[in-house]
Amino acid sequence: MGRVAGKIALVTGGASGLGFADAKILVEEGAKVILTDVDVAKGKLAVSEIGPSATFIKHDVSSEQDWIDVINKIDELHGNLDILINNAGIVFMSDPVNCTLKEFRISNSIMSEGVFLGMKYSMPLLQKNSGGSIVNMSSTASHLGYPMIAYSAAKGAVRSMTKSMAIYCKAESLPVRCNSVHAGGIETPMVQFAQGRVGEAPIDVPAQGVLSAGSLGTPKDVASMILYLASDESRFVTGAEFLIDNGLVVSPAY
Ligand SMILES: NC(=O)c1ccc[n+]([C@@H]2O[C@H](COP(=O)([O-])OP(=O)(O)OC[C@H]3O[C@@H](n4cnc5c(N)ncnc54)[C@H](O)[C@@H]3O)[C@@H](O)[C@H]2O)c1
Repeated sequence: MGRVAGKIALVTGGASGLGFADAKILVEEGAKVILTDVDVAKGKLAVSEIGPSATFIKHDVSSEQDWIDVINKIDELHGNLDILINNAGIVFMSDPVNCTLKEFRISNSIMSEGVFLGMKYSMPLLQKNSGGSIVNMSSTASHLGYPMIAYSAAKGAVRSMTKSMAIYCKAESLPVRCNSVHAGGIETPMVQFAQGRVGEAPIDVPAQGVLSAGSLGTPKDVASMILYLASDESRFVTGAEFLIDNGLVVSPAY
C-alpha cells in the first residue's frame, strides 16, 4: 500500500485492458488517477469500478486540442501531474502490401503522434514537482519482425521517442524520467482481436506461478512494472526499456 501515495497520474486508453489494470493498481497504491479514453461508456464504467480516486475524461489522444484541454483540466483539478502513462492504442493486422495509407496514418496518429503530444503537453505539469515519470507503452513489435507494419512503425517510434525525452530531461536538468514498456502476449481485448477470438471468453491465465512457454500474461503482469516505473522506487531509471513478454524477444522459438 502507498507506493505512489499522494501522486496524480494520467492513464490514456484506461477504459480497457492494460490501461484499466494500470489505473487500478495506481489507485490501490495511493494515487489519484485521471483515466482517459475515446470510449465514454467503458471509461465511465471503469472509474465506477475503480472508485472515487479515479476520474474519467473523454480524450482522443490523436487530437492536439484534446491534449490541451485534458492537461488544463488536470491543472484546474490538481495543479500538478506526477505520472503520465501513454497507453492508448489500436491494432490493424494488415501486412506491408495490404496496409492502406489510412490504416497507417490512423495507427501512427494514435500511437506515435499521441505519445509525442502527451509528452509535450504534460511536461509543464510533470516538471513542477521533484519527480515526474512518463511511461510509454511500446511493444515487442519494436524488437521483433511482425508483418503488421502500421503498428510496428508506431511502436518503433515510441521506443525511440522515449529515449529522446529521457535524454532531453537529463540535458536540461528537468526532474522527469521517461521509460518504455514492451509487452507481448497479454490477454486483453486487443490480443483477443489480433488472435481472432473476438466474442469468445477470455483465456483463463493463472494468477500465480511461473507461466509456461506460449502462455499469455495478465494485465496485472504489466501493471506491476508500470507501478514500479511510476513510483520513486525507480528514481535512477530513465531512457530504459522493459520487456514484459515471458522471454519472447530473447528466444522467439520458445
Ligand atoms: N495486450 C498486449 O499484449 C500488448 C502488447 C504490446 C503492447 N500493447 C499496448 O498496450 C496498450 C494497451 O493495449 P491493450 O492490450 O490494453 O488494448 P485494449 O484494446 O484493451 O485497450 C486499448 C484502449 O485504448 C483506447 N483507445 C483507442 N484509441 C484511442 C484514442 N485515439 N484515444 C484514446 N484512447 C484510445 C481504446 O478505447 C481502449 O480502451 C496499447 O498501446 C497496445 O499497443 C499491448
